[in-house]
Amino acid sequence: MRLDKLLANMGYGTRKEVKKLLKTGVVRVDEEVTKDAKQHVDPEENHVTVYEETVEYREYIYLMMNKPAGVISATEDEEETVIDILIPEDQVFEPFPVGRLDKDTEGLLIITNDGKLAHHLTSPKHHVPKTYFARVKGVVTEEDVRSFEKGVTLDDGYETKPGELAILNAGEESEIELTIHEGKFHQVKRMFEAVGKKVIYLQRIQMGDIHLDRDLEPGEYRELTEEEVTILQK
Ligand code: URA
Repeated sequence: MRLDKLLANMGYGTRKEVKKLLKTGVVRVDEEVTKDAKQHVDPEENHVTVYEETVEYREYIYLMMNKPAGVISATEDEEETVIDILIPEDQVFEPFPVGRLDKDTEGLLIITNDGKLAHHLTSPKHHVPKTYFARVKGVVTEEDVRSFEKGVTLDDGYETKPGELAILNAGEESEIELTIHEGKFHQVKRMFEAVGKKVIYLQRIQMGDIHLDRDLEPGEYRELTEEEVTILQK
């Protein structure tokens, strides 16, 4: 990889800024000062330093965000996206959200630049289960549990796969947890519409075996641990 790309990826500025930095003679490759932005380096083999500090190269970034309501889960949009609210040091990795949550949905969102992992998590072949907490207008009943268990018909005629519905609280406003194994557009909201009910708050709390970190306030995020990344890759 080109030296300027490596340094830009590691947060040393834009390519232009990195070129300027190189000109000042503070960058060394294998102890030799270099000013050549185009020089090819192998991050595994070569020892790169800036101001005598080793540049630790990493290719991938894995983040867990508690997505807040009001931001779009996309990389670019006219409105604020989940990528816009990352710090610039994380944006340089050009990460993207894995799958989509609606603008008004909160909760667990994985953000990475690892396309292979993203594909694994979103491919219909793998059926990675996703669990949501929801507040629903109206009394959610055992009949709804049985309907979801069998699968319901959405407004476009699509028959959903079985979903596991757990009632936490039934009343004028009910609280539930629902696990689904697919990810159709607005799926949870539309499943409740199929049984005549309306979701008024939705939060994703689990994806595969990864749980939303309860220490993260909406809008906050952290890196996934190595263990969490390994779990997601399985
Ligand atoms: N189902 C929905 O209806 N909305 C989401 O954001 C996620 C699942």
